[in-house]
Amino acid sequence: MAERSSFVVVANRLPVDEVTTPGGERQWRTSPGGLVTALHPVLTEHGGTWIGWAGGTGDAPDPFELEGIRIHPVPLSAEELERYYEGQSNATIWPLYHDAVETPVYKRRWRETYRLVNQRFAEAAAEVADDGATVWVQDYQLQLVPAMLRELRPDLKIGFFLHIPFPPIELFMQMPFRAEVLRGLLGSDLVGFQQRLAAQNFVRLARHLLGLRYEGQSIQVDGRKVKAGAFPISIDTKEMERLAADPKVQARAKEIRAELGDPKTIILGVDRLDYTKGIELRLKAFRELLADGKLKVGDAVMVQVATPSRERVEHYQTLRVKVEREVGRINGEFGRVGVPAVHYLHQSYSKQELAAMYVAADVMMVTPLRDGMNLVAKEYVSCRADTGGALVLSEFAGAATEMRQAFLCNPHDPDGVKDALLRAVGAEQSELKRRMRVMQRHLRTHDVAQWAHTFLDALKEAAEGRDPEPHSLDGQST
Ligand code: ADP
Ligand code: F6P
Repeated sequence: MAERSSFVVVANRLPVDEVTTPGGERQWRTSPGGLVTALHPVLTEHGGTWIGWAGGTGDAPDPFELEGIRIHPVPLSAEELERYYEGQSNATIWPLYHDAVETPVYKRRWRETYRLVNQRFAEAAAEVADDGATVWVQDYQLQLVPAMLRELRPDLKIGFFLHIPFPPIELFMQMPFRAEVLRGLLGSDLVGFQQRLAAQNFVRLARHLLGLRYEGQSIQVDGRKVKAGAFPISIDTKEMERLAADPKVQARAKEIRAELGDPKTIILGVDRLDYTKGIELRLKAFRELLADGKLKVGDAVMVQVATPSRERVEHYQTLRVKVEREVGRINGEFGRVGVPAVHYLHQSYSKQELAAMYVAADVMMVTPLRDGMNLVAKEYVSCRADTGGALVLSEFAGAATEMRQAFLCNPHDPDGVKDALLRAVGAEQSELKRRMRVMQRHLRTHDVAQWAHTFLDALKEAAEGRDPEPHSLDGQST
């Protein structure tokens, strides 16, 4: 029997990946990604259990403890990985929830596997959660878990947080098993979103699709109340500031500048190689500014870190080809021997190396077509305690709601992106400092710990106000 916890996080990924070293030894390693970055400090503080997929296929390792967290791996077979993770999660739901910027693909067998895997996660949570425990389910891969878990364990306080955008009703209605997803989420006591508009979409959808009544942000479901709210996620601001101030990171930042030929302006992009991130349009804006003579190779250099991601999903393969073709085109047209216009890095980095890049960069470009939050934007700002640097930020990133002092742009308007980049490159130091200071102050009070506490306090309140004998969600009509 598994050890039980009073606080359980259920997420698609564990905060670690199992890797095999070149010598054949199997080891655990921290895995990258916004969610892992955000929740690690919260879990160590609570000493809880994290249920998630270890990153491979086949049997899962036995539960173990790592840095004060109980790790409870959930297995996925090769077929489940393809259908639940690559298929339903990342080729259906991901594009649909990001404004369908790529066409969502719908397949019956993917949905069936998504259901099956969600049930497995729910059963694992039911097994490890102590009586009356708090269970916090994360993100779009696990939207059916709250209702499945409530069915198994009505005593639990169940929270759900969606890290990505929640789509408008018309888009959500495209999804073949839309009512089941909505009922899944409604198994929670509290459903959290990055944006207020997303929470509003959700409550309206509950009425539209299931005919449920709501008052404010509270939906009536079978005599229970389900609350919806906005909880914009953030970063470990102190840790990021500390890292950026580390003399080794500072020295490495200088080294990076020197390695790039000490240009006047370093323009940086750091993203997963994902079509929502607007990498292509950013490259295109840079190319056009070089062609217009408004930026010059040697004076300005672009560094694009594009972390490998979801590499077997077709949309991602196509994107990689397009991005690499554009980088080749820019360097071919504008580069000189030993002086490329764009440095393209399809690699993962340590937190230290990323911080050094942030410290070195004069302009950070964050230009997603749609993004739940975008932690990279927040990391960059918190690394610039010197109050230098400029952030060019898409209005369609969740972060834009909080970071109004960035150079905001509409990523669908190429001239607008070029204009924001030029304004950032040409801004006076005093203006840059003023903008940075305001954003930094905000991040110091709105960090990841504050995010988690606010959500968990709201969850406690929502769960305590609920009907003591909740009904199952089965039998709801669509
Ligand atoms: P998403 O969750 O969609 O990937 P975010 O910007 O919210 O986007 O979070 C990305 C996280 O991954 C950030 O914490 C960032 O520091 C980290 N990250 C991005 N690229 C790399 C990389 N090449 N190596 C290591 N970490 C990375
Ligand atoms: O931000 C959305 C998200 O799916 C996170 O849940 C995850 O940590 C990150 O993107 C990376 O994606 P994946 O887990 O598919 O590699």
